[in-house]
Amino acid sequence: MKKDNLRILGIESSCDETAAAVVESGRLIHSSVIASQVDLHAQYGGVYPELASREHVKAIYAVTNEALQQAHMQLRDLDAIAVTRGPGLAGSLVVGVNFAKGLAVGANLPLYPISHLEGHIYAAWCSPADTKPGPEPKFPLVALLVSGGHTELLLMTGHLQYQMLGSTMDDAAGEAFDKVARLLDLAYPGGPSIQKAAVEGNPKAFNFPKAKLDLPWNFSFSGVKTAVLRVVNDLKSNGRPLPVADIAASFQASVVSALYDKTITAATEFGAKEIIVAGGVSANKALREAFRSQTKFRVHIPTLNLCTDNAAMIAAAAYQHMVIGDPSSLDFDVLPNWPLHTLVKA
Ligand code: KG4
Ligand code: ZN
Repeated sequence: MKKDNLRILGIESSCDETAAAVVESGRLIHSSVIASQVDLHAQYGGVYPELASREHVKAIYAVTNEALQQAHMQLRDLDAIAVTRGPGLAGSLVVGVNFAKGLAVGANLPLYPISHLEGHIYAAWCSPADTKPGPEPKFPLVALLVSGGHTELLLMTGHLQYQMLGSTMDDAAGEAFDKVARLLDLAYPGGPSIQKAAVEGNPKAFNFPKAKLDLPWNFSFSGVKTAVLRVVNDLKSNGRPLPVADIAASFQASVVSALYDKTITAATEFGAKEIIVAGGVSANKALREAFRSQTKFRVHIPTLNLCTDNAAMIAAAAYQHMVIGDPSSLDFDVLPNWPLHTLVKA
């Protein structure tokens, strides 16, 4: 299998972003186009699945076309197509998968079905083709994957080699941000809203608890969410105004320190020299600053537009599957609940 200059078109439609990207050699982004439906779903306070699928249907051709144009490429310049197979919303995934299948058949290109979660991790390898890429992540490394649906701590011993260390027992980190934002009447998606509100707040105003768990590498965020709910209800029932900024800052500090402490401890314990932080919550400024302020580990955090959903990460992950000779396929269904542990090879 040729390894150099492989150009892969990635397609992503697992939730409320329709995205397409062209990535070379699993690292160099020639284009990355994202059509976000956030404004549409914001009025419902969360993703409205049927609307999401229909928006993907409307956007996917134009987004893919735009990605090819921005990359100055045509389908014949590509070596493969990659598409998110799961996890995600079934109706949304179907749109991307069927579009990618049609494109692959029409252009006679191999198609690689990719895990969205693996994609988030491989965002850490990506950078724009017209800039000098940063240092590649080196194994063994610990990866913290924090998104709207997932919170996983992994040990990676090589490409596509994951050992699951822990995950959340209840809410995902992003889900906790979204739910607490709702309690505070802040706009969807909650992560960016809480981050914004927290700027003016005192992170020490409330002492929200960090969960104590029997299994050292697992996470739990339902306790801190309930603690926020209790504070909000107490204040409201006493007719007092909500100190939204202080609550947001204190909640954010509690989540960031739980994520940071566990990841650093795991990296130390498992002899990793490097850390990847990925997924939508890795866009959080306080979380990025926490990891950046330590010097013991080299930390890779994707640029902001690669933290949240995008298709460059899907193409980057597909490259690794392609170079090890994993088979392409036109014969697969979507996997809305595709757990990361089924990918574990090490
Ligand atoms: O990875 P992603 O775009 O989609 C999923 O795969 O779930 O992650 C979305 C999640 C949402 O829960 C959103 O609130 C959170 O990432 N998020 C953030 C920030 N930006 C997005 N959470 C905290 N701070 C942010 N700045
Ligand atoms: Zn995601």
